[in-house]
Amino acid sequence: MSAMQSDTHLMRILLGIGGGIAAYKTPSLVRDMRSRGAEIAVVLTENARRFVAETALQAVSGRKPRSTLWDADAEAAMGHIELARWADAVLIAPATANLLARLAAGLADDLLTTARLATTAPVYVAPAMNTRMWLHPATQRNVECLRADGVTVLGPADGEQACGEFGPGRMLAPEQIADAVVAALRTQRVLAGVRVLVTAGPTREFLDPVRFISNRSSGRQGFALAEAARDAGAQVTLVAGPVQLPAPAGIDRIDVVSAEKMKAAVATHVHTADIFVSVAAVADYRPTEFYAQKLKKSGRNGSEMHVLLEENDDIVGSIATAEPRPFVVGFAAETQNALAYGREKRLRKNMDAIVVNDVSDQAIGFDSADNAVTLIHDGGEVALQKMPKAAIARRLIEEIAALYAARAARKHTARKRDR
Ligand code: C5P
Repeated sequence: MSAMQSDTHLMRILLGIGGGIAAYKTPSLVRDMRSRGAEIAVVLTENARRFVAETALQAVSGRKPRSTLWDADAEAAMGHIELARWADAVLIAPATANLLARLAAGLADDLLTTARLATTAPVYVAPAMNTRMWLHPATQRNVECLRADGVTVLGPADGEQACGEFGPGRMLAPEQIADAVVAALRTQRVLAGVRVLVTAGPTREFLDPVRFISNRSSGRQGFALAEAARDAGAQVTLVAGPVQLPAPAGIDRIDVVSAEKMKAAVATHVHTADIFVSVAAVADYRPTEFYAQKLKKSGRNGSEMHVLLEENDDIVGSIATAEPRPFVVGFAAETQNALAYGREKRLRKNMDAIVVNDVSDQAIGFDSADNAVTLIHDGGEVALQKMPKAAIARRLIEEIAALYAARAARKHTARKRDR
């Protein structure tokens, strides 16, 4: 979702049509999505034009479909990057084996694949192909790649195919695809107008100009959360520790290094936040003393050196116990008894919710692409199984938005009662 859009427009779907026989169903798909309240722009691959009439697509979508980057008039009216920004979602249906391969490889050799790379909106694909082509390891590998990039795969369905074979490979029915995409878009803007402050990454606690204490946090989960909040319509400020991640579009990013600087940045921005999500792995301790010059070794083998540490202030705790305060969500990375520690930590730090992460499993958590977490709040617990961090972030934002809305509704009723 582009940061520049207003909150009031119809949902906008960019429909990319691939060159498979199921393309003949796409005029129905356009109608089904429009009848559910979406605006549609159509882009076809060169091969798709052989399967479906562009005049039919123009009639049902109300816009001229496009298929090439080299149409000067169309580019002048809305350039391909603008088109990618315009979209709240990109739906690629039917997605043939060849198109899935091009998408998985990140090619940008036609208008459709270029628009897909240029968008920050969620991408959906509805595969359609011969059963054997679908089951081929190469296709399955491409689908896995796309899933790992955060693409949602809709279908395919099982049944009789145009080629006479039976098995998985049929495109889902247009109504099913329309339902899935439009429903996802409806829940998408659950944080419209809400201001969210996120911390992410590790902190560094310097001992001298070149040495520091830090931890393995990559910042990826926090960045994914900030992006998911932005996509849900929130105005996001991200306070980031030292990480190797590019600044996400449409988010105010403030870079800090130490826990003290992170605390100061949070203190400056928390007054204008409705929700504070503390994902950062803030160092618990810092060296008591900072040496202005690089420490020298003694040169005696086996000599000892002692570094004294003092505890850093707890950022999330100080915010959660102050009044007025935003809705506060913390994170807890644990290597044992994760849930029990999480429950205790939420109560002790007075947080509205906590996301518990068992980091003893190397396949999830710190420095990996996937995560599996449990969200604990005062009304219950939600376990999210292993999935990419972006998908975890989207689910967490849905849950946090619902909890935040419920709290706002409770406050509203309490105020009315007190009057
Ligand atoms: O106590 P523990 O560090 O495990 O708590 C984790 C939660 O507290 C995280 O949300 C983390 O961002 C936050 N935290 C903090 N300030 C600290 C240490 C942790 O805000 N000094």
